[in-house]
Amino acid sequence: MNIILLGPPGAGKGTQAQRLQQDRGMVQLSTGDMLRAAVASGSELGQKAKGLMERGELVPDDLIVGLIENRIAQPDCANGFILDGFPRTEAQARALDKMLDKTGKKLDRVVEMEVDEKALTERIVGRFSCAKCGAGYHDKFKRPKVDGVCDVCGSTEFSRRKDDNAETMKTRMAAYRAQTEPLLPYYSARGVLRKVDGMAQMDEVYRQISGVLVGT
Ligand code: AP5
Repeated sequence: MNIILLGPPGAGKGTQAQRLQQDRGMVQLSTGDMLRAAVASGSELGQKAKGLMERGELVPDDLIVGLIENRIAQPDCANGFILDGFPRTEAQARALDKMLDKTGKKLDRVVEMEVDEKALTERIVGRFSCAKCGAGYHDKFKRPKVDGVCDVCGSTEFSRRKDDNAETMKTRMAAYRAQTEPLLPYYSARGVLRKVDGMAQMDEVYRQISGVLVGT
């Protein structure tokens, strides 16, 4: 099964994609994570993306499309993938259609995570992750079981994203509204769009996502 998780910054796409990956063996394809890895490695792509990401602006379509095209052709994606953060523009959505056609794959569901915009900044500003394994946490909504120790790998080092601040969030939200929200009618017209309540508790959001994936 191949799905897209669609929603604004902080909607919970990464949180739910990690859980779907663990439980169902689908592969999480996060363009944000891929770009952050490119920035950390200092590659040419990373150098082009760094400033844009820090300002909360979108990275040009051609750079992103190349990343995803290479990734979904890998053997581990044969069991299904979860697109987290892609597509984000109509040009990316059209490019995805072409990639799927070319590789004989199909898009089964687009899950819209509906959230109250006011809650998003609190989610974003409180987010942190394990510096070693990448497990995600939140100051208020998801603290490690033992303070300062990662539940998954036991590391005691954590990091916060540079773009996770209230100021950059305004630009990220504006980009979402102008460029990504128009994808909702695009996918609704194809009959693959389903909505879940992204404001619910994490377990309940997961339950709702599992529900809309039944029968695909
Ligand atoms: P990206 O990394 O994709 O960031 P984003 O879309 O802004 O999404 P986030 O990762 O911030 O949020 P999320 O929905 O995954 O929420 P999470 O689960 O972490 O992109 C970063 C940048 O890269 C972009 O700005 C752009 O520059 C570039 N980029 C990436 N893809 C691109 C593309 N396709 N085209 C162009 N440019 C691209 O949850 C957030 C927090 O809330 C966590 O702490 C979590 O614990 C907590 N939380 C989650 N669910 C709940 C819940 N139900 N209740 C309470 N708390 C919750």
